[in-house]
Parts: sequence; C-alpha cells; structure tokens
Amino acid sequence: MQQPIINKMNQKLSILLTLAISLSLLACGKDNKETSWEENAIETASYQTKMMAESIADSAKMPRSIKNGEIRLEHIYDWTSGFFPGSLWYLYELTNNEYFKNEAQKYTNLLNDLRYYKDTHDLGFMIFCSYGNDYRITGDAEAIPVMVETADNLIGRFNENTQAIRSWDFGSWQYPVIIDNMMNLELLFWASEQTNDPKYKDVAIRHANTTMEHHYRDDFSSFHLVDYDTISGDVILKATHQGYSDDSAWARGQAWGLYGYVVMYRFTKDQKYLDFANNIASFIMDNVKTDDLIPYWDYNAPNIPDALRDASAASITASALLELSTYDAAKKDTYFNYAETILKNLSSDKYLAAKGDNLGFILKHSVGHLPANSEIDTPLNYADYYYLETLKRYLNYNQK
Ligand code: GLY
Repeated sequence: MQQPIINKMNQKLSILLTLAISLSLLACGKDNKETSWEENAIETASYQTKMMAESIADSAKMPRSIKNGEIRLEHIYDWTSGFFPGSLWYLYELTNNEYFKNEAQKYTNLLNDLRYYKDTHDLGFMIFCSYGNDYRITGDAEAIPVMVETADNLIGRFNENTQAIRSWDFGSWQYPVIIDNMMNLELLFWASEQTNDPKYKDVAIRHANTTMEHHYRDDFSSFHLVDYDTISGDVILKATHQGYSDDSAWARGQAWGLYGYVVMYRFTKDQKYLDFANNIASFIMDNVKTDDLIPYWDYNAPNIPDALRDASAASITASALLELSTYDAAKKDTYFNYAETILKNLSSDKYLAAKGDNLGFILKHSVGHLPANSEIDTPLNYADYYYLETLKRYLNYNQK
C-alpha cells in the first residue's frame, strides 16, 4: 500500500512549494519595482568599465578592442586613446560615483603629452573626448592649455590651397582627407570660444564647406576619402579606405558626417548645415535595411541580410540624431524615436555585454576595418563611448 505514503509526501511537497512561492512573492512585494532598461544599461556599463579599469590597471595604455581573445591595448598616440577616459567621464556623470571620476582623471592625465603631437587629424577625438569632458564636467583649468595647444596643432594641418585639414601622414595619397575628420571640428569651435580668437572656427568652417562640396554624393551619402592636389586644390581621387567599395556608403563614415554637420549647426546656427544634416539623416534612415536600426557595417555591403552589423555606427548615429531632434521641430519625434530605438536595441542582450563578459567592454558587434581584416565583429572603445553619450543625452532630454 504505497498510496497513503505518496499522498503524505505530496502533501509535504505542496506545503513546501506554497511556502516557497509565498516567500518569493513577499520578496517581490518588498521591491516590486522592475529594473528599467536604462537602469540595467547604466549598471552593466558601470560593472564592465570597472572590470576593464581593474584588469588594465598600471598598463598606462588604453583598451581599444579585442584581438585574439585578449584586450587590444594601445599607446596614447593611437587615434582611439581619448575614448576610454571619455567613457569614464560619462559614467561619472551617469552615476555620480567618485570611482569613475578618479579613474577618468587618471586616464585623461595620461594623454598630456598629446599637446605636442602634430602627426594626425585625430587630435580632436583624442583630446576633446578626454580633456574636453574633463573641462566640461569639472572645470579643470589644467585642461585649457592642453586643448588650446592641440587646437593650434590641428589648424597647423590646414592648407590654404585645399581648404581642408589633412587627415593622415601615411599612405601614397598626396593630401588625404577622410570624412571622419568632421569629428575634430568641435575642438576648434571650443578653442575659438575659449580664446576669443576666431582663427580656429574659421578653419573648421572652411574645412566643413570643402567637405560638403567634395565628399558628398547627390543622395547625401559620402565617400570615405578624398585626395587633393596640394598646389591646385583639385580633387585627385574619391575612394574608400574602410568601406566596401569606392562608391559604397560605409556606415561609420555616414555617422561621422551626420554628427559633424549637427555640430556645425550647433556652433554656427547656419541653416545650410541644418539642411545638410537633415539630408544625411534621411539617407541613413532610408537605407538602414535592418529591423532593429543597427546598420550593417556598410549600407551597400554585398551580403545583406547576412552582413555584419556595426554597433559603433549605430551609437554615433543615435547620439547625433538626439541632438538633431532638438534643432528641427518638424522632425523632432522622428529623430528622437529613431535614436531611442537604436539605444534600446543596443541595450538588449544582443548587443549589450552580459556582466563579466566581453573582457570589460560594454557593447558587442562592431566592425573596425573589414577590408583590412581588422577588428571584425568585436567590441570597440568608441562604440562604448558614443553609447554612453547617447544614454546621457537620452536621459537629459527625457527629463525635460
Ligand atoms: N576614424 C577611423 C574609424 O572610424 O575607423
């Protein structure tokens, strides 16, 4: 006669089960507020970045991406050296946690010698994301000369004949200018405001106008690279370097251009830059071809829908669109909703690292330089930086 014993066991089991459910309901009741996706994003980003800072401590280098399963660390002269300090500054703003402020200050100070560096156009990225955020958030007076000296070095790369700032000193081009260079102009506007000397912003405006004329196609997509003749100023060549083909629309390049012309409008309030930014935004939104709005690494990648996504292009685009949404009343909601969709999707498990994974980077699935077989489907420190910037902007705008 097994039955009574089984019944007794069932009774006991059912009492235990009821107790367990009641306890868990009580626990939920005590704290029934679910974690929002924004809270989860900040918590995860904080966890990851602390993990990163701890794992690279004392290396005096910056984490850039993942290579062969390890953190790719770079020296301060790498074009991406400003992004990790910048991410720490944004995390300090997002959390008020002094840990991030101290780390941000430490990594920013590592870049001090860049004030003497003249060999690239990327100085804006390197110094404005690090010292620029430092100055914006803390008012640190020591940041001012570093940024002004860097702005002087950047305008030193401007050529009267080409009316553009030279991007690279390597390669076989005569005077290469890449669309990414639009991102360095923010530092120049800041320098003119800081010093009351218009020479910096004059260069920025001339560079932006030249880029509008030669980098952009009729559909408002851009070439990656334009090479100029340094005597006549004529265009020698329009090509790609990191995109699929010379005629394709490399996703991050489209994002750099959009961001750049939004910044141009912010500082000049010249309608032509706002119109231009709107047109670039339309190109991006009309050509994205993905449901989650995280673009393929190139809008013309050959193997769509199987092409790789680029989370870095998505985060730069979202940040720019959030700012643009504040300038154009008619398109405000369109831009805001588009950026919000990107941000929410980047904050989903598909792109946001699980705590403790991804070697401390925040986002997964970016593409650095596919034609060179470099940084393919990897985290990138600038994807993380612009993701945090977007998160910060989004929270600011939503609080209004
Ligand atoms: N500025 C280089 C890149 O976007 O990959």
